[in-house]
Amino acid sequence: MHTVISVVGARPNFMKAAPVKHAFENVPSVRHLLVHTGQHYDPNMSEVFFRDLGMGAPDIFLGVGSGSHATQTAKVMVEFEKICLAESPSMVIVYGDVNSTVAAALVATKLGIPLAHVEAGLRSFDRRMPEEINRIATDAITDLFFVTEESGRRNLLHDGVRAEKINLVGNTMIDSLARLCSTFPAERVAGDYLVLTLHRPSNVDDPAMLVKLLRAIEEGAGEREIRFPVHPRTEGALKASGEYDRLIGTGRWTLLPPAGYREFIGLVRGSIGVVTDSGGVQEETTWLGIPCITLRETTERPSTVEQGTNHLIGVEPLMVLNAVARICRGDVRAGATVPPLWDGDAAGRIVRAIVQYLQQVSHP
Ligand code: UD1
Ligand code: UDP
Repeated sequence: MHTVISVVGARPNFMKAAPVKHAFENVPSVRHLLVHTGQHYDPNMSEVFFRDLGMGAPDIFLGVGSGSHATQTAKVMVEFEKICLAESPSMVIVYGDVNSTVAAALVATKLGIPLAHVEAGLRSFDRRMPEEINRIATDAITDLFFVTEESGRRNLLHDGVRAEKINLVGNTMIDSLARLCSTFPAERVAGDYLVLTLHRPSNVDDPAMLVKLLRAIEEGAGEREIRFPVHPRTEGALKASGEYDRLIGTGRWTLLPPAGYREFIGLVRGSIGVVTDSGGVQEETTWLGIPCITLRETTERPSTVEQGTNHLIGVEPLMVLNAVARICRGDVRAGATVPPLWDGDAAGRIVRAIVQYLQQVSHP
């Protein structure tokens, strides 16, 4: 019996790991353990997703919490090393690009445990983003690369990864979305509001920047309501700047706590469009066929722009205002498509590849 450990820590990890956990339930030769580092810990940043994704509780909780990059990464390493020594896993799987990802990857590799990275190869080519450092460092020590879109494969080959280590499998975040949407009514009733999410440090840590973006969005939206589930990182700057009270005073904004997964996808599905700086939301809107405006200069998910519904707008107020106004007028790009293999079975492909890998290791 092989033990395989999946490591999750922050909100987007849960959607990416849940389908893999579910797929391992049909593999009797593997004991799959879900380790939650506790990077995100508020009930609406963590527990709600375990419920919405039908995952039960994590097998092991490390309780690491918030801190500086060094503190958080180091705490995950110290705690996760103990788990690896106690469980002797045959493989560790890490997801995405958060601090918990790179921390667990370092621990596994240094203990000689084979490492799989789900959502490998994505690159924004902007090293000011903490996630880009996490992606580069994780991929430098990964053994099995699971890639969501063609650009990921290209980037890894460019970095010298051997082609046979790279599996273009599709997107497990879309597996979760497809599963969730199968429980919604088939007909999508488009509402009359926009959805906004913002949490990239470059957009929200400086209150002046945050206020500039919010005012451009508000002006572009005209009379439309904007529903804004506020990430905990964003809440502080919003309140400190006085903007929180001003937004409420306009009567145009609905400020919400961070939404659970089911609630959030319900919001998105009923909207006329989404404004975001999230990574995952760019992909989900492409799969759902809903217009998305991304308030960033770069994206590590180019297929959502080249094929999907995503518009990479940057953060210049006039550009933001005009893009929001266009979406509100219904002036959106026609002919968007969903990237190959975003079909709801990425986790099946991943688990089959891992089982094959483990068989080869046991019987070389
Ligand atoms: C992290 C990831 C980011 C990802 C995002 C998803 C890193 C470097 N960043 O950013 O890539 O896009 O998660 O949401 O890994 N906080 C709470 N409650 C919580 C969690 C956080 O109040 O449950 C607050 C704390 O004040 C904390 C701050 O949010 O200091 C930031 O949390 P952290 O996990 O460090 O980074 P995120 O901005 O959430
Ligand atoms: N999400 C959610 N509630 C929210 C905002 C986002 O459930 O209020 C979900 C979203 O549907 C996606 C994931 O969280 O599945 C994306 O996480 P986030 O934007 O925090 O991180 P990123 O993808 O930017 O790393």
